[in-house]
Amino acid sequence: MLTEVIATRYVTPLREGGSLPGIVEADDLGTYIMKFTGAGQGRKTLVAEVICGLLGRRLGLRVPELVQMQLDPVIGLSEPDQEVQELLKASGGLNLGMDYLPGSLGFDPLAFEVSSREAGRVVWFDALINNVDRSWRNPNALVWHGELWLIDHGATMIWHHNWPTAEKSSAKPYDASDHVLATFAPDVPAAAAEFAPQITEDMLTGIAAEVPDEWLVDEPGFDSPDALRRAYVTTLLARAGMISDHITLGEPSKDKPSQAPGWLAGKPPRRAVK
Ligand SMILES: Nc1ncnc2c1ncn2[C@@H]1O[C@H](COP(=O)(O)OP(=O)(O)OP(=O)(O)O)[C@@H](O)[C@H]1O
Ligand SMILES: [Mg+2]
Repeated sequence: MLTEVIATRYVTPLREGGSLPGIVEADDLGTYIMKFTGAGQGRKTLVAEVICGLLGRRLGLRVPELVQMQLDPVIGLSEPDQEVQELLKASGGLNLGMDYLPGSLGFDPLAFEVSSREAGRVVWFDALINNVDRSWRNPNALVWHGELWLIDHGATMIWHHNWPTAEKSSAKPYDASDHVLATFAPDVPAAAAEFAPQITEDMLTGIAAEVPDEWLVDEPGFDSPDALRRAYVTTLLARAGMISDHITLGEPSKDKPSQAPGWLAGKPPRRAVK
């Protein structure tokens, strides 16, 4: 089970996130990014955050710790924004929290540099989970204490939105041409050799067990949360077995404008991050 904490103070919304995540303090004195069950993207986003976030952590990639957060919407009473009020009201009960990395910077490939080894590890992981949301347009990666951290796995495993076609769609190749780390010569074969043997049925079953039942019930075609957990395990296991030879790194679809402020971007040498 993910550690459970209780939200004690709603600090502020993060407007750069499409789902309007919030910075929230909790009864363990921690500060978290809260992803709300009541957000328009729905609870599958949270399932994806848990499965892929824990998978990344098990592989040794840096993903901030995840917790279950209990929310009483009353903590947002003094929040003036109506959109936030409504999100909180729709999200009473169980939500997802991700450890907040204070002072982190958004990763920008023109300002920071990662090794080809690390780039390969992230690209292979993203290929496994079908992550199309770590592109130069939307890096979903942070730099914190000189290290690369991966966030936002809500838009992964696209196939879980249509289970009847999941087997077929999860066998599709992964085009990493627009990946935010594509320019660092990702060493995909080394990552495949390191990671593929680690993805076992036991490992995936343990990870799927961490997803709260509440986010898995009533999925059409599945008579229990455990049946749905098995479907995630089977699909990811099959993908781990085929994806290594189906990752392409071609030309990016467009030029990559830097998102970084002028003082940070384009001033060689770029800062190396681990
Ligand atoms: N753990 C964290 N620590 C610090 N800042 C974070 C953390 N997680 C997210 N953020 C900040 O909040 C922003 C939005 O978070 P995230 O990308 O997870 O939200 P989202 O609603 O899924 O966004 P998107 O618009 O990409 O769908 C990030 O770009 C980053 O600036
Ligand atoms: Mg994001």
